[in-house]
Amino acid sequence: MAPDIRPGARPGARITASVYTSHVPAIGAALDLGKTAEPYWQPVFRGYDFSRAWLREHRPDVIFLVYNDHANAFSLDLIPTFAIGTAAGYAIADEGWGPRPVPPVVGHPELASHIAQSVIQDDFDLTIVNKMDVDHGLTVPLSLMCGQPPAADFRWPCPVIPFAVNVVQYPVPSGRRCFQLGQAIRRAVERYDEPLRVQIWGTGGMSHQLQGPRAGLINREFDNAFLDQLIADPAALAAKPHIDYVREAGSEGIELVMWLIARGAMADAADPPRRPAAAPPKVLHRFYHVPASNTAVGHLILEDS
Ligand code: DHB
Ligand code: FE
Repeated sequence: MAPDIRPGARPGARITASVYTSHVPAIGAALDLGKTAEPYWQPVFRGYDFSRAWLREHRPDVIFLVYNDHANAFSLDLIPTFAIGTAAGYAIADEGWGPRPVPPVVGHPELASHIAQSVIQDDFDLTIVNKMDVDHGLTVPLSLMCGQPPAADFRWPCPVIPFAVNVVQYPVPSGRRCFQLGQAIRRAVERYDEPLRVQIWGTGGMSHQLQGPRAGLINREFDNAFLDQLIADPAALAAKPHIDYVREAGSEGIELVMWLIARGAMADAADPPRRPAAAPPKVLHRFYHVPASNTAVGHLILEDS
């Protein structure tokens, strides 16, 4: 986005780009067990070569990372629809095999608290989380985008605000609600005084179903049409009812609604609209590959024009 050069304008925080990616847990295992060069995994990691170089060149000050917990931080005891992490740091969850050997996540309590205040006053009822472990939903996207050097002093490139969405236990939020939430997050970021460069990441998906008679379902046509529409007409995509995701993309394909949160935070989706209207974002990178574990890997990087 071009800087605001009106006289007297104060440079505040801004959304610089949005990133979208699957979070397949087997990708984390492939990284942690040194299998990235195996023929099965090579094409998956090659799809992120551009992205790792791009992130090194365009390191943000904060990543607002929209993801879902898989019954690791939360359980059936407590199911927040939207939960924002306001902690100074987050431990890596033990998902049954010990925590992944990756650095803990450093938070950004000041910006997170500001976004919570702004978004809640904008009528979105968030759960505030001051202590939580983060699972593969958050760490696999970070590993894909940042790489995983074996060096003991390896750290993630910047603080991360985890934003957990319930897409595991139905009822799940609608695509429309997610898109509107993204718009509210953009307003919140732009109201923050410090000139921080913030990336918003929408993660999870693509089509998959892990249980029942349709286990193993992958729908390439749906996935690619979703990517096309997410880029070109996200407001129309946001109207897709949740049952269409379940029918066409499988019960776990519903994770894709989280991508609409990141997309709603781009300039052309802004509410109120920018004057003059913002152009659609630039597609810096697009990648799609089948298979990876029980699903496809989809990935986009969009930058405001
Ligand atoms: C798989 C994919 C997921 O998104 C997930 O959370 C768990 C498993 C899979 O492909 O097996
Ligand atoms: Fe998942």
